[in-house]
Amino acid sequence: MSLLIKNGRIVTAVDDYLADIYIEDEQISLIGKNLTVTAERIIDARDKLVIPGGIDPHTHFELPFGKEGIVSSDDFYTGTVAAAHGGTTTIIDFPTQEKGHSTLEALDAWHKKAQGKCVIDYGFHMIITDMPEKRLPELRQLMFQEGITSFKLFMAYPGVLYVDDGMLYRVMRETGELGGLIAMHAENGIVIDEIVKEALKVGKTEPRWHALTRPTRMESEAVHRAIAIAEVAEVPVYIVHLSSADALKEVVLARDEGLPVFAETCPQYLFLDHSCYEKEGFEGAKYVMTPVLREKWNQAELWRGLKMGDLQTTGTDHCPFFYETQKKIGEHDFTRIPNGGPGVENRMSLLFQGGVVEKRISLNRFVEITSTAAAKLFGLFPRKGTIAVGSDADLVIFNPNRKETISIHNPITHHMNVDYNLYEGYEVQGIPETVISRGKIIIENCQFVGSKGHGQFLQRNSFEW
Ligand code: URP
Ligand code: ZN
Ligand code: ZN
Repeated sequence: MSLLIKNGRIVTAVDDYLADIYIEDEQISLIGKNLTVTAERIIDARDKLVIPGGIDPHTHFELPFGKEGIVSSDDFYTGTVAAAHGGTTTIIDFPTQEKGHSTLEALDAWHKKAQGKCVIDYGFHMIITDMPEKRLPELRQLMFQEGITSFKLFMAYPGVLYVDDGMLYRVMRETGELGGLIAMHAENGIVIDEIVKEALKVGKTEPRWHALTRPTRMESEAVHRAIAIAEVAEVPVYIVHLSSADALKEVVLARDEGLPVFAETCPQYLFLDHSCYEKEGFEGAKYVMTPVLREKWNQAELWRGLKMGDLQTTGTDHCPFFYETQKKIGEHDFTRIPNGGPGVENRMSLLFQGGVVEKRISLNRFVEITSTAAAKLFGLFPRKGTIAVGSDADLVIFNPNRKETISIHNPITHHMNVDYNLYEGYEVQGIPETVISRGKIIIENCQFVGSKGHGQFLQRNSFEW
């Protein structure tokens, strides 16, 4: 299959020029002005941007949550279809080790969930919940045979995903030796659980107490501790879903000292705030996620971090649960509300709106924070994350002028398998109209034309920055 994209404005993290792109099979084979090659398909991208497909380094498809048999509502088919509609052509999801079991079992389970279902390419980070010395060799196998080069650890959720500082250090030390990257959920879960107990004791059970029991200082303390332990263990650390100015300060301090510390924030922390928990009735449950939505003033600090390079990437932490049938399980006790919200579909348009249209970041920086930086951090560059001869033809033809209102009722903006949208009613300018994954058109004029199973598992290389 050959494809010629003509007259587009090609934008990468560093380039911005008008040219044609010729794709043969799965890769870009030629870029130039007025190309005269013959192609089986020609797409005119005049007045449109041609950007690298988005990379969302943080999704949870089909994630079991808690002990009540609840599973996040997008599977690897519905989730990747939604991602594709939103201009994302690669996701990285999280196999989750069960305590007392091998990480390789978790990997196997996630491969079974994803195999044959994805419409875009995908990789995995491994969530480690239990790592006695005897299991450490698994990390080498994950890194060098399975293509899993980053490991997520939790300082939150005691009794479930939490690992103590000794285990953190042990995993970090081995990961550093192997040349891998630690992804950290940084919140002091032990203290938070005490605050939660205090709240429940006096009958504070509504969704807003989920937020009021997780202060920003418990995020920043954990970020500080994670960085300190990582420094001693000599491993680079990537803070996932950073939500607050307090936490960002810790990242800035470490980076200023030259430590290999990186961080991701998410659209929910840039666009939504604590007031969502004050909505009527049980509505606040839609926003129950960890970390929680913060006071509004934090948003400007996070945007500044994205602009100045203190924050490198944006992920969605997409972890949807139906409001009516899943979130409502916690109607009388916020601790039973499954944590997480949807977002994989809306990231690119939201960041274009909030970043480029509202003039907080440049167009090149937009590409960098939605695609290129994640490709570099997670061992996919230059195969993914840029537009270059030899790179995978993962491309988005993006209409920078088209406006849409995000809504579960708008067939352009909502395909996620969930009964609400966190950004309901938000108007965004900038819509991915045509999306190409490894040379195949999968979204054409906002319609899905891809196929189940087209997406391939990505064996990732080691971290390099
Ligand atoms: O609330 C969230 N974020 N749920 C997903 C799991 C996690 O902590 O990333
Ligand atoms: Zn997390
Ligand atoms: Zn997550």
